[in-house]
Amino acid sequence: MDLKIKGRKALALGASRGLGLGIANALAAEGVEVLLCGRSADLLERNAAEIAAAHGVAAHHVSADLADGAFAERVAGHARAQLGHVDILVNNTGGPAPGKVTDMSADDLARQAQMMIFGIIDLTNRLLPAMREKGWGRVLTVASSGVVQPIPNLAMSNTLRSALVGWNKSLSNEIAADGVTCNLLVPGRIHTARVDQLDEAAANRTGKTLEEVRAGSKATIPAGRYGRVEEFADMATFLCSDRAGYTTGSIVRCDGGAIKGV
Ligand SMILES: NC(=O)c1ccc[n+]([C@@H]2O[C@H](COP(=O)([O-])OP(=O)(O)OC[C@H]3O[C@@H](n4cnc5c(N)ncnc54)[C@H](OP(=O)(O)O)[C@@H]3O)[C@@H](O)[C@H]2O)c1
Repeated sequence: MDLKIKGRKALALGASRGLGLGIANALAAEGVEVLLCGRSADLLERNAAEIAAAHGVAAHHVSADLADGAFAERVAGHARAQLGHVDILVNNTGGPAPGKVTDMSADDLARQAQMMIFGIIDLTNRLLPAMREKGWGRVLTVASSGVVQPIPNLAMSNTLRSALVGWNKSLSNEIAADGVTCNLLVPGRIHTARVDQLDEAAANRTGKTLEEVRAGSKATIPAGRYGRVEEFADMATFLCSDRAGYTTGSIVRCDGGAIKGV
């Protein structure tokens, strides 16, 4: 299937590793010019060079911290300078530390909300006008399976990411008629460095071995395994493609069947 996005321009956040990097790679494989964003300048520079060499597209990078209130202004400025305009925005952030609801302080919530919600809403608002004017755009936001089925001991993630559900659906109502879609893609245990960190934290907390924690986690997933970054990135790329033009305001799962509800 030709996804019909060759020559489009994409800005991918959280693209120094993991899911964001996987999506940037998959978009570039379809002929999309990419701008990678994250904090780790060295990793981003290396990733951009590898993507350009592997896929024969222009690949740029910008280092910026979502904790910075000026994040959106800075990144939107770089995007205009390096890409000209953005057709595809991939909103992907870091995740919070594990913890319980009763452990969350108001200060922690506010700080984390800047990184997981406010920065990407601000950035999206800055890039949307050009997409709407052109009559084509894709906003894909990576959330978590926890917005459908809250994940034990990831209270901050469950709480804050649920705000993105309301935001995404409200936004879709405002922009769909202009040819711009917005969707949430929710991962459930895709094997990345973050999943390794969470499993190690669980092992330390429970006294189990890492292998026992992993086996227990995989046993809750009907597919019986963790997902591969490429499997997640392929779904993301389809949602960012021309072919997915009639899918908007949705929560799409990529979870090996892990979410128990319908
Ligand atoms: N993997 C899964 O199965 C799964 C499941 C549920 C939810 N999620 C969520 O999906 C997101 C991506 O997952 P992942 O596994 O790829 O996570 P990851 O390996 O931790 O990658 C997170 C990315 O976000 C960037 N980032 C972190 N903090 C940032 C900040 N303050 N400013 C700018 N960029 C920042 C990181 O780059 P720098 O360090 O260079 O800034 C990195 O590129 C995370 O939020 C995660 O919680 C993942």
